[in-house]
Amino acid sequence: MMSVLRFQNACAAALLSCALLTACGGDVSEKVDTTSAAAVAQKTTDSTNRANAVPSTAAPSTSFLMVQGQSVYASCASCHGQNGEGAADSVPPLVGAELVTGSSARAIAIVLNGMKGPVAVKGKNYVAVMQAYGKGVPLSDVEIASVLTYIRGSWGNSAAPVTVAAVAAARTEHKARTSQWSAAELQALK
Ligand code: HEC
Repeated sequence: MMSVLRFQNACAAALLSCALLTACGGDVSEKVDTTSAAAVAQKTTDSTNRANAVPSTAAPSTSFLMVQGQSVYASCASCHGQNGEGAADSVPPLVGAELVTGSSARAIAIVLNGMKGPVAVKGKNYVAVMQAYGKGVPLSDVEIASVLTYIRGSWGNSAAPVTVAAVAAARTEHKARTSQWSAAELQALK
């Protein structure tokens, strides 16, 4: 999604400078008119393209979420490992972990608000903290749905995809929350 937008911005910039270069041939008054007309036209095209590129009504497909999720996962991999294996005694695995493959409400809540230990994952206790990804410079609903669909469907995990709508609803539901979830609070989520 981001790369599509960046690509379009690059195109807009390229077209605008073309317009400026072309405009240099004309006289002064024409130059201003041509440039601004081109800029307006380009802006219109741009917002139309952007509306087409970001599906507002159609939900993204699971394969789109898997591909997007793999790139979002790069920011989780430093802790949870390239293949969701976790890190020794400090970071729990995502492979075969109930909090990943169980109720999607819990997985969504963890990424939105973070969590704090103690927590038992696959029979092992972890006492650590994971940051929230829904606050500060947040991951978008699409990014969270993507990364969760990816971790729930990779490395032998085979839980159902997470929809963008479910993430959006959870974001609204947990809007007022400022602290990380404890394991007990997560278990209480349906
Ligand atoms: C800076 C390290 C770090 C990063 C980056 C990180 N996590 Fe975590 N994550 C943790 C730790 C530590 C815990 C366990 C916290 C605790 O003890 O309660 C955890 C717990 C979890 C859990 C629940 C426990 C489990 O392993 O089943 C999930 C699900 C999870 N993280 C997903 C993610 C996702 C998705 C991302 C990327 C968007 C991510 N994490 C990024 C450190 C990290």
